[in-house]
Amino acid sequence: SIYLVSIVILAYLFGSIPTAVWFGQAFYGVDVREYGSGNAGATNTFRVLGKKAGSIVMFVDIFKGWTATNLPYLLDTTVVGDYRSPHFVNFQLALGVIAVLGHLFPLFAGFRGGKGVATLFGMVLAIHWPAALCCVSVFILCLLITHYVSLSSISAGFTFPISLALIFKTTVPSIMLYAIAICALILITHQKNIERLLKGHESKIYLFKKRRS
Ligand code: G3P
Repeated sequence: SIYLVSIVILAYLFGSIPTAVWFGQAFYGVDVREYGSGNAGATNTFRVLGKKAGSIVMFVDIFKGWTATNLPYLLDTTVVGDYRSPHFVNFQLALGVIAVLGHLFPLFAGFRGGKGVATLFGMVLAIHWPAALCCVSVFILCLLITHYVSLSSISAGFTFPISLALIFKTTVPSIMLYAIAICALILITHQKNIERLLKGHESKIYLFKKRRS
């Protein structure tokens, strides 16, 4: 239906909002894609413009994914199925992935965007907050230990399908497939980071300033 099509387009447009690029240009006169890892995401904004800018970009990018994933609530249950039914959740997952594709290939920034981790997190938060909590715990733990955001993102990506299967005993095959696809997507967007990690060239991020001893 026309509503379905509009909501799919809306999800892509939400994802397409190039937060890192616009925020950097508006408040710092800088396109973050020209510095650091060249990525238009919260991590590179943190790296190039600092903690405050990075946090704001992260929150907006999470919100994008969360909003797109909740769009089906605007539609009638005759179209999307009963709210929270597996059919409905599949629809949510599809919209979340479309928003993430918008973030990766943003209409408003020459189709050169980010890696979609924050947007994916917003999507997982909207669909299954306990699994999101598992993912974010693994992410923070990994970041505090290794100081590699990319490795933490990848670890959190694996945590999503694993926690769904082992902790939350999810039995809906399509939801498990989506979770595995999301994990694979993170591996694909982080190919360059993986190469750098293997060579020991990946840049480290320190959330707190290193204490001098
Ligand atoms: O959120 C993306 C992160 O995992 C890696 O970002 O800028 O270090 O490539 P970056």
